[in-house]
Amino acid sequence: MAAITMSHIVKRYGDGYPAVNDVSLDVRDGEFMILVGPSGCGKSTLLRMIVGLEDITSGEMRIGDRRVNTVAPRQRNLSMVFQNYALYPHLTVFENIAFPLRLAKVPGDEVDRRVRDTADLLELTEHLDRKPANLSGGQRQRVAMGRAIVREADAFLFDEPLSNLDAKLRGQMRTEISRLQRRLGVTTVYVTHDQTEAMTLGDRVAVLRKGELQQVASPRELYEQPRNLFVAGFIGAPSMNFLPASVEGSELRTPLGSLPVDDRRRDAVGDRRVVLVGVRPESFEDASLVSPDKRARGAVLRARVDVTEWLGNELYAYVPYEAPEDVAARLRDLSRELDGDQLRTQAVVALDPSSRIHPGQDAELWVDTARLHVFDPSTGLNLTRDEEAVAALAEQADAARDAQRAAQRTDTQEVPPAEQS
Ligand SMILES: Nc1ncnc2c1ncn2[C@@H]1O[C@H](COP(=O)(O)OP(=O)(O)OP(=O)(O)O)[C@@H](O)[C@H]1O
Ligand SMILES: [Mg+2]
Repeated sequence: MAAITMSHIVKRYGDGYPAVNDVSLDVRDGEFMILVGPSGCGKSTLLRMIVGLEDITSGEMRIGDRRVNTVAPRQRNLSMVFQNYALYPHLTVFENIAFPLRLAKVPGDEVDRRVRDTADLLELTEHLDRKPANLSGGQRQRVAMGRAIVREADAFLFDEPLSNLDAKLRGQMRTEISRLQRRLGVTTVYVTHDQTEAMTLGDRVAVLRKGELQQVASPRELYEQPRNLFVAGFIGAPSMNFLPASVEGSELRTPLGSLPVDDRRRDAVGDRRVVLVGVRPESFEDASLVSPDKRARGAVLRARVDVTEWLGNELYAYVPYEAPEDVAARLRDLSRELDGDQLRTQAVVALDPSSRIHPGQDAELWVDTARLHVFDPSTGLNLTRDEEAVAALAEQADAARDAQRAAQRTDTQEVPPAEQS
């Protein structure tokens, strides 16, 4: 096992385009780190530089205490699982898993023991004599994982390993990977652009945009205290709403109505006249379902609902609004960059499913003003990030992780393969 330390990593391809631009990232020993971001933001490139499949233009890459910039991939002792996990069709499951050991000329009885241990861990024992073509998608994926973990590598690197699977299988494999990583305790870097994988798998998540690191934090911190518009819009589905607002005293006038802000937020706005207010869909509620004292702790907006979607556990309502053309253009750009394609300026609100709000209605929507974010429209910075809350969240995340690892260690009877030598 080893930590992976990246300092000021830059990757320019032949055409000079910086696919990865000055990324500094510390993956701690045993940590599960997620790399996430829209298509083309440099996730795979960064991962390939860690493994050594891509040259590093500048900056330093360290694995453990070794500088590996010029170390050949084979000498780095890392295991990678790709999206198209190409198994050898003519080899049995056993031999597919054994492949890296055969390459390394590991003695036969040790190969046998390690393949069987790995198969046991991945519940593949009864399939060891079968060929990949006869397996289900999930079983094939597990064989690919087996081939990666049998090597007792210092770290695992995954590049969207589940994107070929259907949604249900992806969900199952997700929990398997999480369990396995925690059990083996091996440093892992996992690339995805799946929201759920990003939020559920990792200890921390690194968000990339156009080759630049935006924020590295626990999933909860990313969600509750995003650094900027990009992270705020990227993390969470449906996305956070961004309403243009003019600042009038301690009120933010949005196209949907006025939102009062507390002193901390008012101070953060400073002398800006125009801001973007960030409100997550679930920070809204049908005002008629909100108790009087809760109602007093927020603000009520009146707005015309255009479309509703009742999902059983939630009701989404779409509320279009008018925005000045320059703001609307900025929001369209942001939406495009986030891999979305919002055609109109509209707020998406998530309400209690018992709400009777219907399309065409002028609805009363309550907003939890304690959960508002305020962004600078030109820099995109979150002006209302609460550093105290951030510190508390980081502490909680570390404590939860330590407790989880400790529980995992006492639960595990046999010695996991990665800890044998
Ligand atoms: N061999 C190459 N030559 C030139 N440019 C490249 C090469 N490989 C990747 N790029 C560019 O580098 C940028 C980052 O690509 P990369 O594959 O790392 O993105 P990604 O975040 O993994 O995207 P995706 O989610 O689509 O897999 C892209 O703009 C891409 O066009
Ligand atoms: Mg990629």
